[in-house]
Amino acid sequence: MGTDVFHAQVRLTVNGEPRGLTIDHRSTLLDVLREQLGLTGAKKGCDHGQCGACTVLVDGRRANSCLLLAVAHEGCEITTVEGLRDADGEGLHPVQRAFLERDAFQCGYCTPGQICSTVGALAEAAAGHASHVTDPGADTGAPMELTRDEIRERLSGNLCRCGAYPHIVEAVEDVTR
Ligand code: FES
Ligand code: FES
Repeated sequence: MGTDVFHAQVRLTVNGEPRGLTIDHRSTLLDVLREQLGLTGAKKGCDHGQCGACTVLVDGRRANSCLLLAVAHEGCEITTVEGLRDADGEGLHPVQRAFLERDAFQCGYCTPGQICSTVGALAEAAAGHASHVTDPGADTGAPMELTRDEIRERLSGNLCRCGAYPHIVEAVEDVTR
């Protein structure tokens, strides 16, 4: 497909691989990942920014990919659940392992989003970003301890219709220990 008034050439790095894509200006990042690149890990739940099933990392920060226009992300690094790895770059990411070990899912539909969101939340806490339940007197800028309340709050944008929340919280706790 060539470019026309409805399309543009966009370069993205997806899971470490540079990709040159012809993208419809109206396409969301979620649709490009799923429909053009065959990366079906990120799920379409609501398509309205309400469920978190489509969460991916954009330049290391978590985002609802159903709300992002792909064409606006020229040069960005996108990481989906398929691109997460351990420190050696070979095995499962520690968050993925913890979800398996804690049986932190039932149907699994929300799981890729939960996992990407957890990776983003851990980075935010390590960078000292406060959440809605952080003590206002806390030293922001220093790494934040992730209590159960912090974990629940920081992952509150990721819904699980199966109600696997208790095991999800345990899995995240395991990674923080
Ligand atoms: S599909 Fe993106 S938030 Fe629900
Ligand atoms: S495991 Fe089914 S929606 Fe979360």
